[in-house]
Amino acid sequence: MKKIGSIIRLICLFFLSMQTNLLNAQTKTIAQKVDSVLQLMTIEEKVGQLNQYNDDWTATGPVTKDNDKAKQVKEGTVGSLLNCMGAERTRNWQNVAMQSRLKIPLLFGQDVIHGYKTTFPIPLAEAASWDMDAIQLAARIAATEAAASGIHWTFAPMVDIARDPRWGRVMEGAGEDPYLGSMIATARVKGFQGNKLGDLDAVMACAKHFAAYGAAIGGRDYNSVDMSDRLLWEVYLPPFKAAVDAGAATFMNSFNDLNGVPATGNAYLQRTILKGKWNYSGFVVSDWGSIGEMINHGNVKNSYEAALSAITAGSDMDMESRSYKNNLAQLVKENKVPIAFVDDAVKRILQKKFELGLFDDPFRFSNVQRENKVLNDPEHLKIARQVAAKSIVLLKNQNHLLPISKNTKTIAFIGPLVKEVKQNMGFWSIELPDVDYSKFIVTQWQGVQNKISKNSHLLYAKGCDIEGNNKNGFAEAVETAKKADVVIISVGERRDMSGEAKSRSNIHLPGVQEELIKAIQATGKPVVVLINAGRPLIFNWTADHVPAIVYSWWLGTAAGDAIADVLFGDYNPSAKLPISFPREEGQIPVYYSHFNTGRPAHNDSDLNYVSAYTDLSNSPRYAFGYGLSYSNFKYSNLQLSKSKMRSDETIEVSLQISNIGNYAGEETVQLYLRDRVGSIVRPVKELKDFKKLFLNAGETKTIRFMIDQQKLSFYNQQLQWVAEPGDFDLMIGSSSDDIRLKESFELLN
Ligand code: BGC
Repeated sequence: MKKIGSIIRLICLFFLSMQTNLLNAQTKTIAQKVDSVLQLMTIEEKVGQLNQYNDDWTATGPVTKDNDKAKQVKEGTVGSLLNCMGAERTRNWQNVAMQSRLKIPLLFGQDVIHGYKTTFPIPLAEAASWDMDAIQLAARIAATEAAASGIHWTFAPMVDIARDPRWGRVMEGAGEDPYLGSMIATARVKGFQGNKLGDLDAVMACAKHFAAYGAAIGGRDYNSVDMSDRLLWEVYLPPFKAAVDAGAATFMNSFNDLNGVPATGNAYLQRTILKGKWNYSGFVVSDWGSIGEMINHGNVKNSYEAALSAITAGSDMDMESRSYKNNLAQLVKENKVPIAFVDDAVKRILQKKFELGLFDDPFRFSNVQRENKVLNDPEHLKIARQVAAKSIVLLKNQNHLLPISKNTKTIAFIGPLVKEVKQNMGFWSIELPDVDYSKFIVTQWQGVQNKISKNSHLLYAKGCDIEGNNKNGFAEAVETAKKADVVIISVGERRDMSGEAKSRSNIHLPGVQEELIKAIQATGKPVVVLINAGRPLIFNWTADHVPAIVYSWWLGTAAGDAIADVLFGDYNPSAKLPISFPREEGQIPVYYSHFNTGRPAHNDSDLNYVSAYTDLSNSPRYAFGYGLSYSNFKYSNLQLSKSKMRSDETIEVSLQISNIGNYAGEETVQLYLRDRVGSIVRPVKELKDFKKLFLNAGETKTIRFMIDQQKLSFYNQQLQWVAEPGDFDLMIGSSSDDIRLKESFELLN
């Protein structure tokens, strides 16, 4: 028996080594092909590959109008176009590229951030699902649709950690935490890229914005970032590293300067860390015009110096600034830039064009028939609805006001967002010209209408606008509310109030919306407030007085149905906040993984020379990880396999979760650690693992976590990743501020 076993093992090993050799041969083939193309290229053609232009779609920065774009493509001096969509349009442009001397195909890039035709929840909302399968699936569908529309490359995921809700782009990331952010970065990269580049439903991912863009001072977009190396490595870089490990084909650098050096010209970020330490083999695209913007930063004198700085620092492709196009050839001729830098950048880009299969068939993604079929797949809408429901956070539910019975006699649905159509799509959605979104998107009104029984009446009043002081609609809204058994009020931001260049110093519920809520609450009717926004908003009065609050962000195409699923109990809410909600702007940044300080405040009334505000609690309004369910979950029986571990050992943690409520539902069990003493002070809590599980009413399940050295490590003063011996607190909770079970253990020398 033993003999047969070893023969089988030998055969397996043989096939495994054959496979590895084959794989090596294939990789070699692409590398060789890249080299052979490179040898044929003139310096102008090489620089051309590093040059990316905007087509004629939406722009997020100044567009240089070239009337001779087609001529340049024909001359082989353009490597990529962004904002060029549709199988027909991409085919036409590719045709132009095929008239160039070397027929190097164009890459088509696009911001496919949260869906293509089918719009999914904004990324921050999806992050609230804590559901990696759902997040990966949403990215998968977005990629499938985009690829069928001729797109090879999405400028997503944005993996910037963001702890400042004034920053408009907080909507585009996964929130405040590096662990959750890394898991989501992985899920999104895998989702976009599918099984492998080259498959017809895969697009290249782009981890952006490298790096620390989310820490813009004061939350003002494009602003400077000043940060210690420790914070950079511990909080802001991990999701980027996760994206590298997940195989992200590309990176985008960022608009900000980091400690005085613009990220685009930052060799420490791009050469030392990304391409050096992390051995990254993909390519880096600049952000829109960011190479040229180094002149405004005051870091270079002109576009000649900008090109020199960016290529030296490792920026491979120039998005829209024309700095490379206008200067790089000259810089090489003048020996300011070694040709090896240019060659390396070109090779990285050609490598991806080969991997996508574009050299075999440049038109393979541009197929109108496939596009029509894929973009109209009804399965996508179903999944969009499920993902949307998973993203809705239940913030408050006094006396089980929710879910509402579908047989309620009269329901008033009030507020400026009830009948809105496109607002539901959020900031980074794509509006395709031939889609009638008024039919495609399920409005909140329609969603509720679809849900309630035939005998129920749904009444409507707008009440007020999103912004402005006009209260003329209040009286009608109050009268409407008085006729109802239950009132739902839908308020929030406009979708374009959060997003790029949409920083706000005041993030309170805009306009007179909170006054409208007050007026309706005064009727004495049971009130449910639905808040739609791209960021955490501040709504203290509502939080204190209204019995039920649902945070629905921007949920995309299926928003209305998903909201109704939650409000009427067909989906039991399970989302948890991926970012802390402040009580006031003055508290920002407020995040759960802060240090203890030398003078910690023990409670809100503790003001005796401690680290506290004299006029406001230290705690957030809603904490990271918080979110209610219609059910209740009991945590019990925490056990550790041992109380002391050596660094090469692990501890198994087990506990039981019971659904003690009346509804089946999901709970996200969160594991936090605290290293009590560190050579670098450690946060009071750090998320190190979580599990989302489904439990029927009355059901109990046992779950397990594993503690290993990785989970105990951090960057020390020398930026070495170490676990220091000593005592650790283990906290298991339903939220960062709702720890249910606690234990401690020791890491031995
Ligand atoms: C944004 C990027 C985006 C690019 C292309 C820039 O303004 O910062 O995130 O990918 O535009 O649209």
